[in-house]
Amino acid sequence: MSFKGKSAIVCGAGGGTGLNIAIDLLDRQVNVSMVDLKPQPDSLNEHIGRVQYFQGDVTDEKFVKDVTHQTVSKFGHLNYLVNATGVLWFGQDKSVVDIDIDTWDRVMEINLKSFALTSRYAIPAIRKSGGGALVHIASIDALRGDEQPQDAYGASKAGVIRLSKSLAIQFAKDGIRSNTILPGPVLSPMQARWDGDPIAFDAIERHVPLGRVGQTQDIANACLFLLSDEASFITGTELAVDGGCLAKP
Ligand SMILES: NC(=O)c1ccc[n+]([C@@H]2O[C@H](COP(=O)([O-])OP(=O)(O)OC[C@H]3O[C@@H](n4cnc5c(N)ncnc54)[C@H](O)[C@@H]3O)[C@@H](O)[C@H]2O)c1
Repeated sequence: MSFKGKSAIVCGAGGGTGLNIAIDLLDRQVNVSMVDLKPQPDSLNEHIGRVQYFQGDVTDEKFVKDVTHQTVSKFGHLNYLVNATGVLWFGQDKSVVDIDIDTWDRVMEINLKSFALTSRYAIPAIRKSGGGALVHIASIDALRGDEQPQDAYGASKAGVIRLSKSLAIQFAKDGIRSNTILPGPVLSPMQARWDGDPIAFDAIERHVPLGRVGQTQDIANACLFLLSDEASFITGTELAVDGGCLAKP
């Protein structure tokens, strides 16, 4: 896959999946603007000149607009947007019958509205640059119910799928593709609850048909494929990267 000379914005790039995707793009000579609430990770020094790090909140429209503007100013163009931001607030995010409605609103803002905001500013820049691709990270939770639900999380991720399909149809004529990845359980800071709980971790691994929890690299591999020209006939669809979880009865 060749990406040389392209430019990308990767949101949620301060750790876990987004950081893995950003590093893989940098390793393939892509210029990358990384965005996250967390401070800049140490591992970026070797890419100085081809990376910008923006610490801030992607639900802040002014901040998102500024990131897009500074990306185009520094790199001259924009080809890719990756939305890997997300929050899964175990204990707070529960059934709609019980959830604090402010929690519901904030999860929707971070997991769904931020994807709309980043797309709103990235798409005109990508169009001006001659086309490109968007990849949004949702979840297999978007497609199923749960007896112990995180209803805001699941509903926000389902919204991401629908938003991506709409963007795919609206901007296909501009050479812009939009696809969604549905990860299964992935070892990342989001799943810190597995640390020190080998019983829960073993149960998750046994639940996955391929017999292991996913790594952020599994998601990054799928993301780079969907961004690449090798995926040039793929738009408006979802790719489950879940070790077979969704295929289970
Ligand atoms: N880990 C899993 O098991 C799993 C499963 C399915 C889907 N996902 C999805 O994958 C994506 C990546 O998650 P991850 O597993 O790498 O977890 P992660 O917690 O490491 O990554 C999410 C990142 O989003 C950032 N973030 C949260 N709110 C923000 C805000 N308002 N502004 C800017 N940045 C913000 C966090 O600081 C964090 O770095 C998320 O969309 C998540 O919902 C993860």
